[in-house]
Amino acid sequence: MDHFIEKNRQLWNAKTPYHVKSDFYELDAFKKGKNVLREIELEGLGDVSGKSLLHLQCHFGQDTLCWSRMGARCTGVDFSSEALTAARELNQELGLDAKFVESDVLKLKDNLDGSFDIVFTSYGAIGWLPDLKAWAKTVSHFLKLGGTFFIAEFHPFLYTLDWGKLTLAYNYFNQGEPDHEITDGTYADPGADLKLDEYFWPHSFEEILMSLMNEGLQLKELKEYPWSPYPCFPNVKSVGENRWKFANVEKEIPYVFSLKMTKT
Ligand SMILES: C[S@@+](CC[C@H](N)C(=O)[O-])C[C@H]1O[C@@H](n2cnc3c(N)ncnc32)[C@H](O)[C@@H]1O
Repeated sequence: MDHFIEKNRQLWNAKTPYHVKSDFYELDAFKKGKNVLREIELEGLGDVSGKSLLHLQCHFGQDTLCWSRMGARCTGVDFSSEALTAARELNQELGLDAKFVESDVLKLKDNLDGSFDIVFTSYGAIGWLPDLKAWAKTVSHFLKLGGTFFIAEFHPFLYTLDWGKLTLAYNYFNQGEPDHEITDGTYADPGADLKLDEYFWPHSFEEILMSLMNEGLQLKELKEYPWSPYPCFPNVKSVGENRWKFANVEKEIPYVFSLKMTKT
């Protein structure tokens, strides 16, 4: 498994410089004060001021630093050194107080101590993880008793589709072995000169929810959304502020889900 994780780490190190300068991530607007978090997580978590927040798979830290600006004491985790270098530079430039830890999320116990009021992860995170049992153990390990776990993520249904051709292309259930593709560009910059291996795993709704419940997390809220908060597909139409759908699909399908859970 480590071979796949290492390949993915190389992939994310290569993607990061493109993402930092992309229109997609709106870095200039973010630096000027724009809150780039989406309505789903803003409404889901509400007031975070004074709370300790662990952000798993934080990429180059924009979302983490938005939570910091809202008063949370944030720790961001990612396995990409490139992403964390950019995150730490932003943290310093903006005079914020977030910490960033370089680690495979499934090995975080070896690299971080402490427990948190909130554990948060979002959009495009868990598909890179082979083992949600180990992931859920990590979530539970770092969450204080009574603390809140919040995930906003692309829907397992969506991950069965080829987003370009809109055909059924991937397993819904995790078979253990990853799907393998050669990246062609990246969602934030489709023209980027990136041709690298990527390995990803499908996770059914049952696998996601039960792995967390089996680690003592209790479900407070489950939502499914018939739009995506990011235009990260090849052919999208806007259906509202920060809401996109496939341009050629009239049916109401789920794009994103969120779970709010507490540790009991
Ligand atoms: C699509 S991005 C998440 C984006 C996130 N919504 C944001 O911008 O704040 C996925 C992130 O997961 C990270 N990642 C992938 N596999 C990982 C792993 N095993 N451990 C830690 N980070 C990982 C990548 O480096 C990347 O930064």
